[in-house]
Amino acid sequence: MRAVIIGATGQLGQEFCRRWPGHVIPLGREQCDLTWDLATISAALERQINDPSEEVICINCAAYNFVDRAESEPQAAFAVNAWGVQKLAAACRQLNWPLVHVSTDYVFGLDAVARPLEEEDPPGPVNLYGLSKLMGEYLTRQVLDQRVLIIRTCGLYGRWGQGGKGRNFVETMFQLAQQGQPLRVVADQRCTPSYAADVAQTIIHLIQHQANGIYHVVNSGECSWFEFAQEIFRMTGQSPRLIPISSVEYPAAARRPSYSVLATHKLQRLGVPPLRPWNEALAAYLRERSMQT
Ligand SMILES: NC(=O)c1ccc[n+]([C@@H]2O[C@H](COP(=O)([O-])OP(=O)(O)OC[C@H]3O[C@@H](n4cnc5c(N)ncnc54)[C@H](OP(=O)(O)O)[C@@H]3O)[C@@H](O)[C@H]2O)c1
Repeated sequence: MRAVIIGATGQLGQEFCRRWPGHVIPLGREQCDLTWDLATISAALERQINDPSEEVICINCAAYNFVDRAESEPQAAFAVNAWGVQKLAAACRQLNWPLVHVSTDYVFGLDAVARPLEEEDPPGPVNLYGLSKLMGEYLTRQVLDQRVLIIRTCGLYGRWGQGGKGRNFVETMFQLAQQGQPLRVVADQRCTPSYAADVAQTIIHLIQHQANGIYHVVNSGECSWFEFAQEIFRMTGQSPRLIPISSVEYPAAARRPSYSVLATHKLQRLGVPPLRPWNEALAAYLRERSMQT
């Protein structure tokens, strides 16, 4: 099966391009921009395939990912994450291609919970980015019904393709540590930072199981951003001054969920193995990083 990857230059898009077991067609923003109109998006997809009888799947890794900026420019976030995704789904329906669409833990947060969130839990975003992503989920389901697989993931860091958002959290920590200043890191937001390589591989397993509907795909376990930072520096033998702070001490335009740990039981019920623990995934990322630098 051929895979057309939208947002192929991003962290997750790059992992798919490297890991997809069949023929891959990577499309960056220049080849397929989700703010284009439907006819132009459809034409951009259609021209990738010579034989219309060929089996094709579309994997959407593109997103407007600027969580804080979305509060002041919601139209830009919704143009990609909601209306753009709706057009992509409509183009897939025209071409008779199934769609895999990637969403986020930030569809949750409004209702406080003290346990990992299941796919069936009612969403409720606390910021406009999350709302635009939730709208994208609903719109793909409206357009494609059973022919969409929606993946919610969290705190992605990957070795390649950090173009969209700039550096990921791990690289940001290294950069700040180099500046020699104390690092103030939020300690009251818990989630599961997830390695893009693991997430992409598990999504490929889900596609091979012909899954549809919503699935949570994150590494196992949970931590705060402060604990994640501690582990990054412990594993690399560095000891910058790390200061745990609360969300209110960290000025940001967008509110974040205080707890957005995603449960992965549904994945396991399907027979797809759980992802390794977040600290093992971090160790793998750091190993990969040390081989490249
Ligand atoms: N990063 C996280 O922490 C995180 C957490 C949870 C969920 N997610 C979700 O996971 C998915 C992948 O995230 P990521 O970290 O891999 O993102 P990323 O590295 O920021 O990549 C985003 C990609 O989207 C592309 N893009 C942006 N606007 C576009 C548009 N109008 N049309 C077409 N492409 C466009 C970017 O292209 P350019 O390179 O040209 O900008 C880039 O290739 C997204 O759906 C995101 O919402 C991410």
